[in-house]
Amino acid sequence: MYRTHTCGELRTEHAAQTVTLAGWVQTKREFGKITFVDLRDRYGITQLLFGEALNAQLAANPLGREFVLQATGTVNERSNKNANIPTGDVEIAVTSFKILNKSEVPPFTIQDDTDGGDELRMKYRYLDLRRNALKKNLELRYAVGRSTRNYLHENNFMDIETPFLIKSTPEGARDFVVPSRMNGGQFYALPQSPQTFKQLLMVSGYDRYYQIVKCFRDEDLRADRQPEFTQIDCEMAFVEQEDILQMFEGLVKRIFKDVKNIDYTETVERMTWENAMWHYGNDKPDIRFDMRICNLKFPAHTFPTKENINHLISGAGFGVFDDAETVLAIAAKGCADYTRKQTDELTEWVKRPQIGMKGLVFIKCNTDGTFKSSVDKFYSEDKLKAIAEAANAQAGDLILILAGAEERTRKATSDLRMEMATRLGLRKNTAFKLLWVIDFPLFEYAEEDNRWVARHHPFTSPKPDHIATMINNNPVIEDAAKYLEHPYSNIKANAYDLVLNGNEIGGGSIRIFQRELQEKMFAALGMTEEEANHKFGFLLGAFEFGAPPHGGLAFGFDRLCAILGGSESIRDFIAFPKNNSGRDVMLDAPSSIDDKQLVELQIKLDVKA
Ligand code: AMO
Repeated sequence: MYRTHTCGELRTEHAAQTVTLAGWVQTKREFGKITFVDLRDRYGITQLLFGEALNAQLAANPLGREFVLQATGTVNERSNKNANIPTGDVEIAVTSFKILNKSEVPPFTIQDDTDGGDELRMKYRYLDLRRNALKKNLELRYAVGRSTRNYLHENNFMDIETPFLIKSTPEGARDFVVPSRMNGGQFYALPQSPQTFKQLLMVSGYDRYYQIVKCFRDEDLRADRQPEFTQIDCEMAFVEQEDILQMFEGLVKRIFKDVKNIDYTETVERMTWENAMWHYGNDKPDIRFDMRICNLKFPAHTFPTKENINHLISGAGFGVFDDAETVLAIAAKGCADYTRKQTDELTEWVKRPQIGMKGLVFIKCNTDGTFKSSVDKFYSEDKLKAIAEAANAQAGDLILILAGAEERTRKATSDLRMEMATRLGLRKNTAFKLLWVIDFPLFEYAEEDNRWVARHHPFTSPKPDHIATMINNNPVIEDAAKYLEHPYSNIKANAYDLVLNGNEIGGGSIRIFQRELQEKMFAALGMTEEEANHKFGFLLGAFEFGAPPHGGLAFGFDRLCAILGGSESIRDFIAFPKNNSGRDVMLDAPSSIDDKQLVELQIKLDVKA
């Protein structure tokens, strides 16, 4: 037997017992003739005391950091207790020990605050994973998975595996492909999600399916994106949108309870996509704080649906506002006392290429009720007051205004809102706020091909009263500059995203389940009948054999874990992640393959790696 207890287990009630522990040497400290060793395993750290009697043996078998050590001894209550660790009241007076394996000096310290850089830690990920911080993350991930499985099992969901070697599933990214040796010149695609399979399972009658499953997408990487990531993928038959929203906000609430002991009793707010865009500038608003965007000038294409309030700012001779397609404002709480240096710095911030604005206009709402702005020349005190009212600003607030082309200005204002919230400490990850964003557009305009693409995916159903618009209008866009005037730009989908603290943690839709409508959808996306049959004939065929109404969603499992763990980066919650260039630096993958393999696969390379 290698051990009687773990390194996290012993307390004063074990005093006088003889125990054997096994683990890694975290630190070794020599005090005269006595040596202390902190022994670490997955469960904790226990102090070992090597007395004088073991000195000769220690001299012959010196211990080093990360050596694997087995030690037997007596549990003693410590005189100088360490309140920082659960085992800090005891130590083991070692009577015998054995080095089970030696270790090279690790390339970085195995501690919470390590000195290892990102790449180095990725290269030696197995050492990085010994650190407490990462262990806690993986434990959290495991807990989220367990809670998910329990909830879904209790609600009659069945975990069914689906294949990885498949034909393309469109989720908006590029596919990873795998050559087939047995079918020379042909390739499998790795699933971007199990979308079509879960729909087929509904046709097969498995009315509640789930899977915690790997998905593969060849897309540009960011902190919250990996080329292979995990989804909690779900589908239900005989449901409407409302059933799905209830079921899956229930799942997240259950995870909050099981994993964070949080009772999330409040109703999950719902917001239409359009409102999210108007008031927050993006489709995954962080609503832990208000700071809504005020539209001081609506773009012309929104009239007459939007109130024309342009008189507030237009016609005062201020060209920046007069010429802009849209003018957007936010009120930063209590920032009216910002110094020149601070406002200059914010101006530089919005001018950075990532934000791409030309400048920033300020209105200070002084506490005495007066206003001071960078555009005093153009606007009377009364006008500034009216703008402040429109922007929902109070005395003491600082109004920040951006003007320009619609899309860019909206995104920039959204980014500025988040930046100000961060500066004001409103985005701390201690509180959680969920939000359903609903009624997404069905289509998105793809500028490069001047055509419509599915905003979610092509299996998403249009709102029932928008079906006629889809069927009765020609998808062709005559004038690219006026794509917003095409009837397709107003078609809404039965699609929804779940947002947590400003992050999209999940998304899904009620699906099309009739062949005819699905064919019309493919046609709207510019697919010929032949193409549609070639790519999705299996699904169209299945819809002819009694497909039930169905819908579902998928959560980004890594993302959910990262947010619950208070981190922006999903990498810290994946045991073996890829770096930002999609490489596994530990394995050194991707890598070239043997010429023999290439011959077998009948592949000739143009470029030698
Ligand atoms: P969608 O493409 O919205 O929907 O993906 C669902 C969720 O997966 C997460 N996610 C990612 N996480 C890490 N790295 C990535 N590269 C990545 N891409 C997506 C997000 C997202 O909300 N089949 C549909 C679901 C459905 O309709 O049921 C789908 O995959 O958190």
